[in-house]
Amino acid sequence: NIERIDLVCEVNNTDHHTLQNSADRLIVRRGLPFTITLHLRPGTHFQNGDNINFIAQTGPIPSVEAQTKAKFSLSRFISRSSWSATAEMSDSTVSLTVCSHPNAPIGVYKLILDQGEAIGLGEFVLLFNPWCKQDPVYLASEAEREEYVLSQDGLIYRGIPNRITVLPWTFGQFEPGILDICLQILDESPNYISDAALDCSERRNPVYVTRVLSAMINSLGDKGVLVGNWSDDYEDGVKPTVWKDSCSILRQWSNDGCRAVRYGQCWVFAAVACTVSRALGIPCRVVTNYGSARDSNGDLVMERFYNEFDENIADDSIWNFHVWVENWMTRPDLSLGYEGWQASDPTPQHRSEGVFCCGPVPVRAIKEGELTFKYDVPFVYAEVNADVVEYIKLRDGRVFKMGGSTTEVGKSISTKAVGRDEREDITHNYKYPEGSEEERRVYEKANHHNKLAQAGEEPGLHIKIKVTPDMQIGSDFDVYAELKNNTMVTKSCRVMFYAQAVSYNGKLGETCGLGVILVPCRSWVCQKWARTWWQI
Ligand SMILES: *[C@@H]1O[C@H](CO)[C@@H](O)[C@H](O)[C@H]1NC(C)=O
Ligand SMILES: *[C@@H]1O[C@H](CO)[C@@H](O)[C@H](O)[C@H]1NC(C)=O
Repeated sequence: NIERIDLVCEVNNTDHHTLQNSADRLIVRRGLPFTITLHLRPGTHFQNGDNINFIAQTGPIPSVEAQTKAKFSLSRFISRSSWSATAEMSDSTVSLTVCSHPNAPIGVYKLILDQGEAIGLGEFVLLFNPWCKQDPVYLASEAEREEYVLSQDGLIYRGIPNRITVLPWTFGQFEPGILDICLQILDESPNYISDAALDCSERRNPVYVTRVLSAMINSLGDKGVLVGNWSDDYEDGVKPTVWKDSCSILRQWSNDGCRAVRYGQCWVFAAVACTVSRALGIPCRVVTNYGSARDSNGDLVMERFYNEFDENIADDSIWNFHVWVENWMTRPDLSLGYEGWQASDPTPQHRSEGVFCCGPVPVRAIKEGELTFKYDVPFVYAEVNADVVEYIKLRDGRVFKMGGSTTEVGKSISTKAVGRDEREDITHNYKYPEGSEEERRVYEKANHHNKLAQAGEEPGLHIKIKVTPDMQIGSDFDVYAELKNNTMVTKSCRVMFYAQAVSYNGKLGETCGLGVILVPCRSWVCQKWARTWWQI
């Protein structure tokens, strides 16, 4: 008896904060009702008493058990905790209000009226809902929802703590076609290809979706979006520093038959992950960590080896900065208290359960040193907390510890402030203040700092190179060596200073300066200042 169906997209999409996306396609969020209008043929009626059932289904193999298919009938009231529908009749139209389960899988749905024969009422896209208290991605503050879900522009921080640079970025999650590409990313994932029914069912869970995205934004091991390249040669692709927005990358990937786009580096991976998260309705922000350790062997210690002539001969590297994302959600799979921001890192650096992905890691688990929590806490913990130990390896093969630092790694962790074009320092979310009692407690729990403690106690001669803390880019700066004579005799030392350019990912350039001074080292500590001619 239905003549025409009006999905009333403009009104519904406005209510569901998806109007920016489209006014002619129904895009709704979980746990919030939407109303469509059925226009009946003249002279026909729609009766509440009739046996009227609805089916909402998603994915290629909808099933009630997997929650990818919901069957429900007309009721008097809308329920906010399950699929439900109500109807209001007038002469020739029926206003049909439908509400999804707040934990229903996200994706493209068919809505079907089942009255003996099945009549398709239309299609809609269901997204996560940060406005809905029952949704695990619920975010209470409207200002934060504006920033972390709806804002299509952002700022990404790079550089070094003394000279932080800002890259404006267009996320463009509501640009034409982008939502479909985001859903396509899920459909290209190995999880979907190997078991589509299970994968669609798991799309209920933002923890699962975030983890899939952290694997699919990079192209290692799957048909993911971006290839990483740190070679300084980008001839057959786009130089990572050239990109300014996520949409051109996502469109290129989709138009090119899901061939990975060349090339990305950490901030590009993170920015694309942020676009896809916001498009699907998971609150997301881009986060920059300065002095970011990349712990290759998982011992929470960055070991740097030098030979007598400046060359760094180590595996572990410290990046001037590294960029990842945080997504907002509850963690029903962990104990209470670990909901909130979850770090996830789409840059391919680390295999987790065999796949190049990382997270989601509760940011609080990093602060508390809970290294056993899911997923990948030790890797992110090391990125912000690892200690640095430096060794010198002589020509004859002998190795000496030179010193190190407990403060070099994990500084000025930054993200764009809510509603303002300013930087917000969120280091306190990741770690307790340096030197505080809580910090020591966490360190003990995470059980490291051992190597560094030993390094200070050893007999022999110890050297530390320091620069003035107020060092400025573009002007002269002071460098000094602090020598410790932990022996019984006077030592005469020849101290050589080298300077070397280092790129943001820890790759060393050419030696750009050399100075030699002679120091008699008689007392416990002797310092030698040297004004240098180096400039950065
Ligand atoms: C990086 O780019 C260069 C030049 O375009 C290419 O030869 C090299 O294979 C790329 N590396 C990776 C890992 O794709
Ligand atoms: C360093 O050198 C002097 C000799 O001038 C020596 O007396 C002293 O004990 C040494 N060690 C320390 C720990 O000061």
